Amino acid sequence: MEKVLIGKGTEKVYLLANKANQHGMIAGATGTGKTVTLKVLAEQFSRMGVPCILSDVKGDLINISQPGVENENVKSRVETIDMEDFSVEGFPTQVWDVYGEKGMPLRVTISEMGPTFLGRIMELNDTQVAVLNAAFRVADENGLLLIDTKDLRSLLNELLENKEDYSKLYGSIAPQTVHAILRKLVYLEDLGGTNFFGETSIEMEDMIKTDSNGRGMVNILAASKLINNPVLYSMFLLYLLSELFETLPEVGNPEKPKLVFFFDEAHLLFESCPKSLQEKIEQLVRLIRSKGVGVYFITQNPLDIPSDIAGQLGNRIIHGLRAFTPKDQKAINGIAETFRANPNLDTKEAIVSLGTGEALVSVLDESGAPTMAERVLICPPRSTFDPLNESQWNGLVESSPLYGKYKEAVDPESAYEILERNIALRQREKELEEKEKLLEKENKKSRGRKNSQQDLLGKSMNSFLGTMSRAIGREIARNVLGSLKRR
Ligand SMILES: Nc1ncnc2c1ncn2[C@@H]1O[C@H](COP(=O)(O)OP(=O)(O)O)[C@@H](O)[C@H]1O
Ligand SMILES: [Mg+2]
Repeated sequence: MEKVLIGKGTEKVYLLANKANQHGMIAGATGTGKTVTLKVLAEQFSRMGVPCILSDVKGDLINISQPGVENENVKSRVETIDMEDFSVEGFPTQVWDVYGEKGMPLRVTISEMGPTFLGRIMELNDTQVAVLNAAFRVADENGLLLIDTKDLRSLLNELLENKEDYSKLYGSIAPQTVHAILRKLVYLEDLGGTNFFGETSIEMEDMIKTDSNGRGMVNILAASKLINNPVLYSMFLLYLLSELFETLPEVGNPEKPKLVFFFDEAHLLFESCPKSLQEKIEQLVRLIRSKGVGVYFITQNPLDIPSDIAGQLGNRIIHGLRAFTPKDQKAINGIAETFRANPNLDTKEAIVSLGTGEALVSVLDESGAPTMAERVLICPPRSTFDPLNESQWNGLVESSPLYGKYKEAVDPESAYEILERNIALRQREKELEEKEKLLEKENKKSRGRKNSQQDLLGKSMNSFLGTMSRAIGREIARNVLGSLKRR
């Protein structure tokens, strides 16, 4: 059976591959070794053929692509842990960035992201979200593709222009609510929405890959800029997770995971997170297990993770924590109590005395029960500690076979173009009507002109139908948060 060597306590300690989808956490104060631990896990998953997604907040993960050097620190760990097959190695790495600056552009369409995520990112209130939902229904039912922010703007303007008609169908649409959403749309564009909403949008299959040697792809989401907006950061990661949920088939409990998702700075996800969203995250994390996806939260304080979610994290690696204040001490007592007691170890004392690259570890054993807490020296990484320079970084991004596919934004016909044309059509219709009236006054027939008007409307209908099938596909694939809401 395949397993990931975490390090050595009294014995070697392994994360069992068939328990890796039961999630986990890596916690500890700054500088205690969280990032290296994350790499050690991701490297071994890659060697097993399991792709990973890592969010990279500090820009210190991308060097997983380059082999390390066996310095004294590494050598002594290899010896102490008694690692038989250690060798330095760089791993297949793809870098993504929603801003398209430090990685391949990671784009999403407005339609795909759906009203729930968008509402949260735009910080809409309930009334506004209700109107946004109505707008999405109008788009779905009329085959209007919402790709970028200008599509959404056109659609909202369409609602405004014809509010009486739409209110009859979708419930009251107050103009001031639409105006408020339009203002928040400007805010969204200022956040970078003009870049990350668009085509070609990310296909999760492009992340779930192995290289020619069968090693799992390490996907890095370069998030050093994204992190400046914590809501955007957490919603994007959550969106990716929900897309994985939609993409992957049910597999129950696989021998090894299909993909492992590492969520750095996880406390941001839960900070000021409304209870309703927290429940959805809890649900998503629970349900994604049977898709073979393991989710690992990385955070400074394990107590940042709400207990409903922490309770689902079977594999725990807790690095050193600081006990400066009585409050810290109380937290540490709480954390120590969550571990299965080990008669040979004072967990409370251990948590505050762990060295760098050392951790308290409890994983799920073969029967699915948590092992006793052990004090573990963590393996050294196979990849380098050295940061990449700019040209290495750019080289890595541009050498990806997917670079050509995602590099440039494409702007296919969508709501904006269709609605603009409809406005032009309506305008022309009006003009024609007026001319007709004039002509009638002069007591003449106007059949010829009417025909040309019908021609134009016919053309517009065709383009509606042309985009329809695609729009329906999108609607079915609408994110899990949307669909969870309906359950
Ligand atoms: N398992 C390890 N093997 C070797 N060195 C380690 C290990 N863990 C931590 N270190 C050393 O400690 C430094 C800080 O670790 P890091 O993972 O960046 O801390 P954190 O992410 O918790 O802030 C690393 O740059 C490395 O030099
Ligand atoms: Mg770190």
